[in-house]
Amino acid sequence: MAETIEELEIRCRSCTKCPLSETRKNLVFGVGNKDADIMFIGEGPGEQEDLQGYPFVGRSGQLLDKYLEIIDLDRKKNIYIANMVKCRPPQNRDPKSEETEMCIGWLRSQFKIIRPKIIVCLGRIAAQRLISPDFRVTKQHGEFVEKNGVLMMGTFHPSALLRNPSQKSIALEDFQKLRTKIKELGIRI
Ligand code: URA
Ligand code: SF4
Repeated sequence: MAETIEELEIRCRSCTKCPLSETRKNLVFGVGNKDADIMFIGEGPGEQEDLQGYPFVGRSGQLLDKYLEIIDLDRKKNIYIANMVKCRPPQNRDPKSEETEMCIGWLRSQFKIIRPKIIVCLGRIAAQRLISPDFRVTKQHGEFVEKNGVLMMGTFHPSALLRNPSQKSIALEDFQKLRTKIKELGIRI
């Protein structure tokens, strides 16, 4: 029998594959509907996420939830949210590429179980690893590209928007493009 998302999460929770396991308070596996057609992928847990064990529960998460609500998406109903690395990098530094490579197997297993039709990369770290190594968020945000039968899109990371509020309206347009794409594909949310 194929592994369920719950079984995968239990295995992941004891992961010590990379040094981030030594400093984490809680592993942040992911949250949402395992039958969702749309997945959002961030970078890695921050302080609040590490304390609470769930992705995007701090300030950037509040902003993300606001944008999601505008386009009728909701982590409790119709999407799944995860990160490139499941354990918090100290001082919120970028995850190192070797940490991402150690961790990506867990994300691939999540993709295999959830089988999303659309994957949205939040920020450079996810977009460069999942879409293309030279992905430039400022240039390519909001563009859909197909990879292995899945539509992928990269947009601004919500914490970048908190630092740079002038980009908020452009980011919102990306979310609206996502809404249009969902309708075009006839995805029921
Ligand atoms: N930033 C991320 O990339 N992921 C989270 O879960 C929280 C903040
Ligand atoms: Fe394992 Fe990923 Fe956590 Fe590293 S970040 S310990 S690879 S779950």
